[in-house]
Amino acid sequence: MKAVPFIDLKAQYKKIGPEIQNAVKKVFESQRFVLGECCAALERSIAKKTGARFAVGVASGSDALYLALVALGVGAGDEVITTPFSFFATAGAVSRTGARPVFADIDARTFNLNPDGLESKISRRTKAILPVHLFGLPCDMGPILSIAKKNSLFVIEDAAQAFGAEYKGKKAGSMGDAGCLSFYPTKNLGGAGDGGMIVTSSLSLAQKLKKLRDHGQSKKYFHESVGVNSRLDEIQAATLAVKLKFIDRWNRARRAHARAYDTAFRGLAVRTPLVPAGARHVYHLYSVLTSRRDALAKFLKKKGVETGVYYPIPLHLQPCYKNLGTKKGDCPVAEKTSREILSLPMYPELSAGERERVARAVQEFF
Ligand SMILES: Cc1ncc(COP(=O)(O)O)c(C=O)c1O
Repeated sequence: MKAVPFIDLKAQYKKIGPEIQNAVKKVFESQRFVLGECCAALERSIAKKTGARFAVGVASGSDALYLALVALGVGAGDEVITTPFSFFATAGAVSRTGARPVFADIDARTFNLNPDGLESKISRRTKAILPVHLFGLPCDMGPILSIAKKNSLFVIEDAAQAFGAEYKGKKAGSMGDAGCLSFYPTKNLGGAGDGGMIVTSSLSLAQKLKKLRDHGQSKKYFHESVGVNSRLDEIQAATLAVKLKFIDRWNRARRAHARAYDTAFRGLAVRTPLVPAGARHVYHLYSVLTSRRDALAKFLKKKGVETGVYYPIPLHLQPCYKNLGTKKGDCPVAEKTSREILSLPMYPELSAGERERVARAVQEFF
């Protein structure tokens, strides 16, 4: 029997292929590939969808983070407080600006930054807090925003995994000074290659970002600052515009799968994802915790169920951050989570039969 895949992008393409092909064909017919009407239209749609006033398309989620930090003036000598439990790009973006990532530990049940540990990490060099809405669950933004306000810090949300997620009725990405999205193909809203976007309600920040993504040009060949080449191309924008029409439906399907998993795993020695009151999870990943993680992954593989470990090594223990002086024991919750976490198959098109195979295999293991 065919294994239950961890993610199946072909299943999605099967449904919307002709519409995508048509949109891409129009881009080819226009022969306008960079900074054209598709990107501008997508920026308007995404701004509206997230409730932010502006959106700026860039080449990747990593660049969205980097450019948002640069536009807010973060650079050498500064510190940015963030989570050690994320994809590397979160901390990497901080380092690329010349600033230093400072890691605060996570909450054991949500896998997101624990606001309780934040204030102790603030120094006179701290410029910003960079919370990540990991796996599609929004961070506890109330306390994070009030700590930032009290200490005059910027908040840049890493919403790469959380398109459509909500915290107390507000969309992920719309609550801080800037919100960063990734359109990497496996994301909830994924393109046909790399892509990203920054959403913000600040006009001056949006204007700065539009220049920064295009070599700092305010008009052709007039460079006000040294920017970069980081633009969302028209083929990506056209593809994403088609997919945007389906995102709510897809996120609902993910939530339905999560509910079914939650029910199937009740009573087992495995912790299912917590959804705090007021949060709307979009389950980019459905991740469980068990002290027998490696054995469970091996068993599931034998049973034809693919799994993934996100993330096996927390960021403060990455070899490239040896120079920060961070060490084992600095973020004990993130370290334990890295040893115990396992993500199960999750994508909108997952069939009821596949879902049951996953559930039965997990039940059998325990
Ligand atoms: C939490 C997080 N931040 C940032 C990124 C970077 O996005 P991209 O791959 O589009 O550069 C990703 C995804 O890859 C991510 O998962």
